[in-house]
Amino acid sequence: MDLKPNPNGPDGAHPSDARIARHFDAKVAEPLAKCEDPSLVPASQRLRDALLSLDAVGRTVLELGCGRGGLLLLLVRAGVARATGVDLSPASIDVARSRFEQAQLAQRAHFSVGDAARVPLEPHDWVILDRVLCCYPDVEGLLANTLPAAKHIYAFAVPTSRGWRGVVARLEDWLDNAWNTLRGQPCPGYVHDLDLIEDRLVMAGFRLRHRDRQRLWHIAVYERVAQVP
Ligand SMILES: C[S@@+](CC[C@H](N)C(=O)[O-])C[C@H]1O[C@@H](n2cnc3c(N)ncnc32)[C@H](O)[C@@H]1O
Repeated sequence: MDLKPNPNGPDGAHPSDARIARHFDAKVAEPLAKCEDPSLVPASQRLRDALLSLDAVGRTVLELGCGRGGLLLLLVRAGVARATGVDLSPASIDVARSRFEQAQLAQRAHFSVGDAARVPLEPHDWVILDRVLCCYPDVEGLLANTLPAAKHIYAFAVPTSRGWRGVVARLEDWLDNAWNTLRGQPCPGYVHDLDLIEDRLVMAGFRLRHRDRQRLWHIAVYERVAQVP
């Protein structure tokens, strides 16, 4: 995929970008992250299962906030033809690239560092945001830039904002951020309004195909039913 330079230039970056990059670069550098098998957390496993129940063979997939590329690697092994990963964290992108090289699948993947709410994105069959909308304050900007890139499927995992689970998710975010701030790595999480996210999906021509829940996580797969100009 050709990622053209950000028309806003580096100075146009969202104020959160550097903080998110620092936080996730530091996570990748943690000793545990280096030796641990970067397998998927339970919410990501649910998302993976939902995606693997679709026909992956020959698809093109764009994952925004791909982290260390674990989900993309699984999808390419399942038959995805071309995988594109974008993340704000250069260290995560380095790990993703080297995992694909080690698996001898580098020719089927392209990774780049960038803000998914701002970089120009080429259309792909599937677009995935796995636990990413909740890192980014401008959820509307992130949706507006990424929804048009999905030709068929838009899949995501976010903390639910509804009911008592929404209250607990907000409390967990608050505690996480307090802990990260104490460690000198502030990186607030966001429990964005699910009604707003669903509304933007419908306005962009998508309908719900599959929904799941894992603890406080809401997992959803939408399919495009209309092309919105
Ligand atoms: C919680 S991690 C999830 C990583 C991966 N999706 C997974 O589930 O293992 C969130 C990732 O999203 C990235 N991220 C957050 N906001 C982003 C944005 N606007 N553009 C690109 N990447 C972003 C972070 O750098 C981080 O790697």
